[in-house]
Amino acid sequence: MFSGQHLLSVQNLNLEAINELFTVAEVMRPYAKREKMTRVLEGAVLGNMFFEPSTRTRVSFGSAFNLLGGEVRETTGLSNSALAKGESLYDTAQVLSGYSDIIVMRHPQPFSVQEFAEGSRVPVINGGDGPNEHPSQALLDLFTISNELARIGQTMQQLSLTFLGDLKNGRTVHSLCYLLALFPNIRIQLVSPEALALPQKYVDLLSNAGHQIEIGSNLEKGISQANIIYQTRIQEERFESEQEANRYKGYFRLNKKIYSDHCLPNAVIMHPLPRDSRNDANELDNDLNKEPGFAIFRQTDNGVLVRMALFACILNVHKQISDSDRSVNWQVGLKPK
Ligand code: NCD
Repeated sequence: MFSGQHLLSVQNLNLEAINELFTVAEVMRPYAKREKMTRVLEGAVLGNMFFEPSTRTRVSFGSAFNLLGGEVRETTGLSNSALAKGESLYDTAQVLSGYSDIIVMRHPQPFSVQEFAEGSRVPVINGGDGPNEHPSQALLDLFTISNELARIGQTMQQLSLTFLGDLKNGRTVHSLCYLLALFPNIRIQLVSPEALALPQKYVDLLSNAGHQIEIGSNLEKGISQANIIYQTRIQEERFESEQEANRYKGYFRLNKKIYSDHCLPNAVIMHPLPRDSRNDANELDNDLNKEPGFAIFRQTDNGVLVRMALFACILNVHKQISDSDRSVNWQVGLKPK
């Protein structure tokens, strides 16, 4: 399903394709952990184009490609590209696809990556188009949800998920809704300030899928029945003014006390990151860092596995990963003292 295709949205994916992708992601684990190395994409070039701020998406896509043996060319910031000289997305795509085997692109305008893909001669992965979608994040989030549920001895059938925060502008939530609609009977709690509620089209999508949905703005009530809590950042860059965004900063703060007093014992905490740790926001307090359910860095590690799997499946080398296996001969990680 992925071979030779763009990944612009998760809307046309089905569970069979996703399960296949996740099987490949598991194959990637020893390569991501530096237990082995593969050169299956040796000679291939990734055009990694980020026209909005990014740390983990940009770096994990780049690392994933490097870990498969490929080379990464980066373009960051609109002002550093010819788009700032009035070039159309179509022209930029024609040019850059002549230099790359695959392109990842992030851009502030909804549907801009789709427009870019129309001019591209190689597959394009949407790394986030404004508040619209973030397909690779939704896939790694689903992979994480399923792994975390397994860790606490539960399955997708028992999923009770709370989305928390800016559900209006959070593209990771939007893409994840499409994937959740592929499963039956999920309990979903949507907790946000009223002005930042999940757009109706996603609520309809979830309710048409037969899910039980509760909508509210009370933190303690909203998190009390969830085995997965998905916190989000107030997407300040999508607001008309800083003042308006500031109204919602710090609206929902999760810390150890609230977690212990109100959540189920094994509740898992996820966040697409970055978490806003400034004093006026502090949406996930550092005192949660050592909680076994605090999954945010397992989630970022999973991002590399899922992005490696995407590259391998799109470029159709997923069955050859181990053909170029080598052992790793450098010191991996910190030596125990
Ligand atoms: C998210 C994004 O950019 O949409 N971050 C990410 O890619 N992991 C979420 C956010 O910025 O709040």
